[in-house]
Amino acid sequence: VASGASPTTSGGKRGAPSLEFHDFQMKPLGKALRTFRRLHPYLRRHVSNWVGTDLRYLAHLRGSSRGPHGKDAPVAFQLHLRRSGRVLELRSVREYHFFVEALYLACSVLGEDAAEEAAATLIELRQQLRQDLERVFTAQEIDTVATGGYPALKEIVLYLLVRRYRPKALVETGVAQGISSTFILRALADNGEGRLISIDLPNYNPEGFRYADAKGTIDHTYVKKDLGVGWIVPKPLRERWDLRLGASSAELPKLGDAKLDFFFHDSEHSYENMGFEYRWADGHLLPGALLVSDDIHWNSAFPEFIHAHPEYRVVADHRVGVLLRSPA
Ligand SMILES: C[S@@+](CC[C@H](N)C(=O)[O-])C[C@H]1O[C@@H](n2cnc3c(N)ncnc32)[C@H](O)[C@@H]1O
Repeated sequence: VASGASPTTSGGKRGAPSLEFHDFQMKPLGKALRTFRRLHPYLRRHVSNWVGTDLRYLAHLRGSSRGPHGKDAPVAFQLHLRRSGRVLELRSVREYHFFVEALYLACSVLGEDAAEEAAATLIELRQQLRQDLERVFTAQEIDTVATGGYPALKEIVLYLLVRRYRPKALVETGVAQGISSTFILRALADNGEGRLISIDLPNYNPEGFRYADAKGTIDHTYVKKDLGVGWIVPKPLRERWDLRLGASSAELPKLGDAKLDFFFHDSEHSYENMGFEYRWADGHLLPGALLVSDDIHWNSAFPEFIHAHPEYRVVADHRVGVLLRSPA
């Protein structure tokens, strides 16, 4: 945790905590024991059996380093949450990391009072979606062609930002199975307000897609044709959802002069398309709105946009970019 913005002191009853860039500069937690040590105060406040769980986790890591192991290798952790009395079953090292990251970021973004509830929601949603994905894809496919990396920081960040800023009018580009859409829609449902328009040009080809970054990296995310774009979004969450199929370059202009509180880019990560979408969003975002983008490291479109638009505050720029438009 960088200086000055401890999650435990920035939230709670003293009003909204302030979001800072370093809140999102999380390195892979499993690799950094020191990070875990720093997280102890937050975890111990929320998880009553934390110390025992942590020791078991470390023993597991030590034991597994000698034998075959993977992040999804089965291992059981039970977390007893103090305030809600809820018991969470975590079934792999990845789920453990996901929970720790979610709780830490929830403390930073929402404040301590709301953090435990948010982290529990996030882990439960993750487990539910993981089960759905496993019915359709192999474990290896889940990390590659199904999502391009799961779980990712972006799902946690999307949920928490929508909870904290309570946007009413949201647009997302790039849906695939519908994982990011699900996290956004769940946050809208928990807020009790807001609508999401999602745009996707379906890709049914597992071999690759129509574009690559400067280094030739291809986005392999694809959707099985019989399931269709957004198939994973739970039915009850669809009330607030409007899914439109087509290229963002064709579909965004159809939204006319819509005024938005939230824009999320995760479609074609070409320099041209990212630049186009950011500029389109800039013309439609209200003061105080959020511009969020995944995969900002693919090319220079995001840094160039920041440079040209000092009216946006950079909240995060580590893989996921988060910009807050000046409220004035
Ligand atoms: C990385 S995936 C989206 C993942 C999704 N946001 C998630 O987190 O679950 C990118 C998606 O963008 C779609 N896509 C690619 N080019 C597009 C374009 N020009 N306009 C709209 N969607 C596009 C692809 O078919 C694919 O479904």
